[in-house]
Amino acid sequence: MQRIVLIFFTLLATSILVTSITAESNLGNVGPIDPGMYSLEQVLNRLGNKPLLHSIDQFDLEKAKMGEDLIFTGYTRVDGKKTKRISDYFVCTDCHNTTREFRDASSESSADRLNYAKENGLPFLPGSTFWGIYNRTSFYNNDYVEKYEDLVTDARSSLGNSVQLCAEYCSSGRVLKDWELEAIMHYFKRNELHISDLIISMEDKMELTKDNLSDNEKSRLSKVITSSYRQAYSATFLETMSREDRPYGDGGNPEDGKLIYQKACMFCHQNKRVTYLHLDNGKLSGSLLWRNRKKYTDQSIYQIVRHGTYSKVGRKQYMPLYTKEKMSDEQLNDLVAYIKQIAKR
Ligand code: HEC
Ligand code: HEC
Repeated sequence: MQRIVLIFFTLLATSILVTSITAESNLGNVGPIDPGMYSLEQVLNRLGNKPLLHSIDQFDLEKAKMGEDLIFTGYTRVDGKKTKRISDYFVCTDCHNTTREFRDASSESSADRLNYAKENGLPFLPGSTFWGIYNRTSFYNNDYVEKYEDLVTDARSSLGNSVQLCAEYCSSGRVLKDWELEAIMHYFKRNELHISDLIISMEDKMELTKDNLSDNEKSRLSKVITSSYRQAYSATFLETMSREDRPYGDGGNPEDGKLIYQKACMFCHQNKRVTYLHLDNGKLSGSLLWRNRKKYTDQSIYQIVRHGTYSKVGRKQYMPLYTKEKMSDEQLNDLVAYIKQIAKR
């Protein structure tokens, strides 16, 4: 009897193994495997797209966990010992979220982003999210060349170099050691996109499970997928609006303005978290910003939002600018409408 049971279980185990191997090799031509679970990298490679330059074959969860520490706290532990912080001034999550920021992964509309932040309790930050960054192919796009000049040349098509650029310059920190960079890349791999993260039709999803797709089908599916998420986030720098053109909150929506104020400005400024300037919902903060609204200096909201500040010797904390994609002029007007409201309370 025992022998029969043993044989039965051996057979069962073998058949499960065989099924899962088959599923793996032809991307799940078997019932129970949901095409939503396929990673984008896996699918796009199979459809004949160029492999990612930073592709990771052997994912290592331990490395990803260290990467997570580095991103959230700036250090991790090796053999029980705390490693040297990346920066004394910032952690990556001061400027980047690590989760989804848009309901539709192909959007980069600032209104969609604020809406999603509102519904999901996220801050509204100047940097793009790390969620899905593994699947992007271009970084520091468009106008960032103005800010970082030659540094961007090496970073634009390389995720690893972009991390280094940000660790050293955006974070006012230092160059990462090889193992630190590797850990961060494994963290990004863990946060990669899957088919279920995209809005694509059921028919197309089912197509993906088929073997022997023709070249035409492959190229069609590849287009469907690559247009369902951002391979790059655009970055348009705007000039400080001229005094005459500033709407000073007229026609703005103070409700949205309040959200932006709390999720952007207060995220860094409340209790002087990363700066000497404290901002809150009170009259004092409101009147400070309202009073300076007509200026062309850092104290004017119209200037600071579009230019930020630069880090300098002795004062490494700086404020990153908001591009048009990260805060539209309309949202800036909403923000000013809210500031006016609290200033005049
Ligand atoms: C003070 C703000 C700030 C900090 C701190 C910061 N970054 Fe950034 N980072 C930015 C901004 C602004 C950009 C501009 C491009 C974007 O994200 O859209 C950027 C871009 C990037 C990009 C390219 C993203 C893209 O899609 O173009 C990577 C990768 C990156 N940062 C990694 C990091 C890592 C890793 C850390 C922590 C070690 C870090 N950053 C810390 C502000 C910051
Ligand atoms: C990522 C963090 C961060 C965010 C987000 C942020 N700031 Fe700043 N801000 C700073 C830092 C750092 C400085 C530099 C001041 C310093 O040296 O401490 C600064 C400087 C300023 C200054 C100039 C202060 C001075 O006297 O020079 C103003 C005004 C200001 N921020 C307003 C805002 C407003 C309004 C928002 C929201 C739209 C905002 N900040 C969002 C970090 C941030």
